[in-house]
Amino acid sequence: MIIANWKCNGSIEMMLSWTDDYVKECDDIHTFDTFVGVAPPSIYFETFSVEISHLNILGGVQDIDYLDGSRTGAISVDMLIDLGCDFSIIGHSERRQIFNEDNNLIRKKLKSLNEKIMTILCIGETKEENDKGITKDVLKNQLEIVNGLDLDTQFTVAYEPVWAIGSGITPKPKDINEIHKYIKDVVQSNSVNNRTPKVLYGGSVTDKNAESFFTEEFVDGALVGGASLDGSSFASIVNIFNGIDK
Ligand code: PGA
Repeated sequence: MIIANWKCNGSIEMMLSWTDDYVKECDDIHTFDTFVGVAPPSIYFETFSVEISHLNILGGVQDIDYLDGSRTGAISVDMLIDLGCDFSIIGHSERRQIFNEDNNLIRKKLKSLNEKIMTILCIGETKEENDKGITKDVLKNQLEIVNGLDLDTQFTVAYEPVWAIGSGITPKPKDINEIHKYIKDVVQSNSVNNRTPKVLYGGSVTDKNAESFFTEEFVDGALVGGASLDGSSFASIVNIFNGIDK
């Protein structure tokens, strides 16, 4: 599974050239064997969906609200279902840090998406937490939001160390692998139905380093920020993933 998170970037013009570049570079634009998803800013979701309707790409969003009604500025799950949205990212560290989102709110979002739209839950430790050696404790705490839930089959986690996002610095592939195994075990034991999720790695993934992550046993794909803004770089990452026999 390869997911693009465009964050607050892009324009109508960019989407057109992005699609052209993706089509030129991607070796396999029509089959859906690999889940390839792009989350543009919500306001562009519909235009982008039309652009990619003939390609092996599913459309998603970067966040949702958990209720509808009197919630100015919000976009609800039912509205996204109406537009044919295939997945939603929630809990990204930028939402946690800039918009003060906590576990309580992210759990409400997860519950509103569960069994309706595929969820990609982002978790990750800060540099300081990593230096202190408390990464697993931090992740365990962030994963408490799945406690007592019957998770749907598509529930996915993205492990994104905050210090790796946009920095060009990444953990070692073998360390990522160990953390992914840990995440799978925690979700499996905490969810009511013992769901083992797919776990994506995110944080400075590029077409140069992607292979080193994808060959690790418990890495099920990537959540790509900066490198996904270029259609051909993103397509190269998809090609690398498709070329690995797991
Ligand atoms: P990056 O962002 O690939 O630019 O590091 C990843 C993310 O924040 O999802």
